[in-house]
Amino acid sequence: TTSSLTSTPTSTPTPHAAWLPDAALDAVRTRSVAVLGHGLLDTVRAELSGAPEGTSARAELVVAVRDAVATPADLGLTTLTALPDPAPHGYVLVREAGRTLVLGHDDVAALRGFYAFVRETAVARLTGAVPADGVTASAPHQPLRMLDHWDNIAVHPVMGQIERGYSGGSIFYADGEVRADLSRVSEYARLLAATGVDAVAINNVNVHAREARLLTDGLPDVARIADALRPYGIRTYLSVSFGSPVLLGDLDTSDPLEPAVEQWWATAAARVYDVIEDFGGFLVKADSEGQPGPFAYGRTHADGANVLARALAPHDGTLIWRAFVYNHHQDWRDRRTDRARASFDHFAPLDGSFEPNVVLQVKHGPLDFQVREAVSPVIAAMPRTRVALELQVTQEYTGQQKHVCYLAPWWSEILSFPLDGERSVAQIVAGEGGGRPGGISAVSNVGSDEFWTGHPLAQANLYAFGRLAWDPTLRAQDVLDEWIALTFAGADDADLTRLRAVLHSVMDESWRRYEGYTAPLGVCFMVSPTRQHYGPDVDGYEYSAWGTYHFADRDGVGVDRTRATGTGFTGQYPQPWHDVYESLETCPDELVLFFHHVPYTHVLHSGTTVIQHIYDSRSDAVEELDGVEEAWESVADLVGGALPASFDARVRERLAEQRRSAIEWRDQIRTYFFRKSGVPDASGRTIY
Ligand code: GCU
Repeated sequence: TTSSLTSTPTSTPTPHAAWLPDAALDAVRTRSVAVLGHGLLDTVRAELSGAPEGTSARAELVVAVRDAVATPADLGLTTLTALPDPAPHGYVLVREAGRTLVLGHDDVAALRGFYAFVRETAVARLTGAVPADGVTASAPHQPLRMLDHWDNIAVHPVMGQIERGYSGGSIFYADGEVRADLSRVSEYARLLAATGVDAVAINNVNVHAREARLLTDGLPDVARIADALRPYGIRTYLSVSFGSPVLLGDLDTSDPLEPAVEQWWATAAARVYDVIEDFGGFLVKADSEGQPGPFAYGRTHADGANVLARALAPHDGTLIWRAFVYNHHQDWRDRRTDRARASFDHFAPLDGSFEPNVVLQVKHGPLDFQVREAVSPVIAAMPRTRVALELQVTQEYTGQQKHVCYLAPWWSEILSFPLDGERSVAQIVAGEGGGRPGGISAVSNVGSDEFWTGHPLAQANLYAFGRLAWDPTLRAQDVLDEWIALTFAGADDADLTRLRAVLHSVMDESWRRYEGYTAPLGVCFMVSPTRQHYGPDVDGYEYSAWGTYHFADRDGVGVDRTRATGTGFTGQYPQPWHDVYESLETCPDELVLFFHHVPYTHVLHSGTTVIQHIYDSRSDAVEELDGVEEAWESVADLVGGALPASFDARVRERLAEQRRSAIEWRDQIRTYFFRKSGVPDASGRTIY
């Protein structure tokens, strides 16, 4: 329904404590503590209020900035001859004889180290793995760890207050203004600080008229948001319109090569830094889905990005420029034009021509945050450009926070994928082993909802995103353990053990299950264009202008992206993928329809035919939901105790909707392909 989208939810219910409940903090507040240093160490002091004070040489927990202490003796350490030096932005934890010392490279890092200690304390209780004495160091793998909010100030007539938002209204805006009370934003920043996120863009990349003015008369309000984020080490970014000089500036052009436009941006950036000294920078969606951009002036995206980057450079600001540029007025009759190619075709030739403070933000797949896509070849194509990977925490295409879909396994696959044959995607975007450092960003799934994320279990996606941006080698199940250990820190040991087992059985395989009942074998989309991409509509986009087709006919299905007979997209990949994806012999099953158009009788590596796979996996995935519901039912006795009643009620309501929707997906997909192919289901199930 659209009513929930168009109403402005102004009331902010008391937010659920998510992964920082009192119980998680209380578990460390029992220790005697000493906090040494200034700045964000005050945030640590606030977190530890109520804990008995100790001296730096004796306290059971010492949190310090490295500069605040000189020798091991200052901290009463006997086993170390010298204090370890944390890496930039990193921290070390020193454990000795029942004491823990958190040393941050700077105050922000000390705060993160403190939250790491809270986390490790909770996890030790869950898993029984108590950290051994010694020194452990941690530093962020990614230089930029950012969340993008697609929040509108003025409720958009079609998209609502948060574009692709499934968690109520905005935590930043209400009633057409920045909220007067930003305490919810502070709470959010606190949660993010405990994951490792360090940057937040506060408004939609589709910059509408009202939001464009955040850059001008809205600045005092942006400064208030920055004030709420700062105590937790989070920098504020604004999405800005490339057309701002015309929209806001009384100029008749936004041509990036016009001196007046260059001047306009320089002045605009300077004005921001006058009020927000540590402002992060701008995020820009240009020439994309109707947003203004440099193409209108015959300029390249390097010309466009660089003018904004130069305006930010004197202030150490960063320009994040999105690579999501394609023709959304495509003719479906034209089989040669391939949306998957577009980003590479536009950007790869520009490698080396961006200013040093430009970060090119590339969606993980060449299409659009689908449940399964190949990794975008653009990520490996621009060694002289800082590239950031863009993920979608908000579940636009993965069940819209109505379905359980724990995304960390999917992100781990993407992050560890050896895109250039050697280095993982995470290494490439971090600039490890060559190239320039970029980072990881994602569209946030948060709103003013009581549970922050609509589906309470979707909190784990937000948590996991921050943790994987900090350390992409973490295992998805371990990250889930962390989330469980913290979120349910108030449960007693036996209840916690049961919750752990149930949550793993509900969540570990949930992404694969979701893939199992939705669009098969990497074919993508098949979502409803008229219901905000929720639910199945196999041909919904087939004859549209959006470039997202599956080409199913009576003989076969899939997109031929080969060099031999198709759009040539496989040619954008470095080896081995250049050849692996080109050949049906080697293309992995889960991407076969992403790269090839095959007959329904094509036999997959798994040994089954494409059509039988479509029939089987949709049934299997729906049947698995029985187990999910049973598992949840098995902890019903914890409701009102370890499991808050409202949390349980929300999960149940969502599980019921997930089942309804999954059955709809299963039946429509199976029927569609049965009718197209005429091939009966070998196991004789009812196909309606
Ligand atoms: C998707 C999404 C849009 C969004 C766009 C983007 O197409 O449906 O709502 O604006 O991605 O990433 O810019």
